[in-house]
Amino acid sequence: MLLGVNIDHVATLRNARGGYEPDPLTAAKICIENGADSITAHLREDRRHMKDNDIKALSKLLKTRLNLEMAVTDEMQKIALSIKPYSVCLVPEKREEITTEGGLDVAGQLKKITEFVTPLLDAGIVVSLFIDPTDEQVRAAAKTGVQFVELHTGAYSNAFGLEEEEEEEFMKLNEASRLAHALGLKVNAGHGLNYQNVKRLHQIIDIYELNIGHTIVARSVFVGIGEAVKEMKKLVSKG
Ligand code: PXP
Repeated sequence: MLLGVNIDHVATLRNARGGYEPDPLTAAKICIENGADSITAHLREDRRHMKDNDIKALSKLLKTRLNLEMAVTDEMQKIALSIKPYSVCLVPEKREEITTEGGLDVAGQLKKITEFVTPLLDAGIVVSLFIDPTDEQVRAAAKTGVQFVELHTGAYSNAFGLEEEEEEEFMKLNEASRLAHALGLKVNAGHGLNYQNVKRLHQIIDIYELNIGHTIVARSVFVGIGEAVKEMKKLVSKG
């Protein structure tokens, strides 16, 4: 499995003082040097962490390794078509949420999502849909023409350590991943993963890449971001 590192919270820390440090661009370089296969940055409507100039600079620096996370809005579509990141991951977005809650309802807005992704795909951008691990959402995603789904691991992460619940959430991921693969989709996964709960995901053989953010940035306070990435890379790539 590959490791994608979400560096949004490097920007959160920078913005806490409104200055220039820590610089997300430098963080991205160190992550790549220490084994990250891609870098994710989420440009939110309220710009609470990443700013437009961060995304432009990251896209230039990373070329084939920037995954731009964004909502399904005209504004974001315009930005993606002008910056042309290597890939985009479409997520639902609510102003009041602390982090992305739940997956995108692709099944409930199939026409809208299909129309939204078409110009992105035509522009050569790889597109991924962040969805809950359900049969219905996976089947809908496969109809839109995108190459990837990213399965939401939040429920699994929350249930980790609670025997029955963990098993149930793990099985949902396993089954959704199998179905997605069978329908020709590549499968990423992420949200709420950490240095403990990530290990079990090796049992899901169809996962291509895990996208992990908060726990890596949190660990980097103690060991540095290079070491934090190295430790996670070891857990993600073995097996
Ligand atoms: N994948 C997606 C689509 C996300 O929205 C997030 C959170 O921004 C992540 C992965 C990373 O989640 P975490 O920060 O909990 O590792």
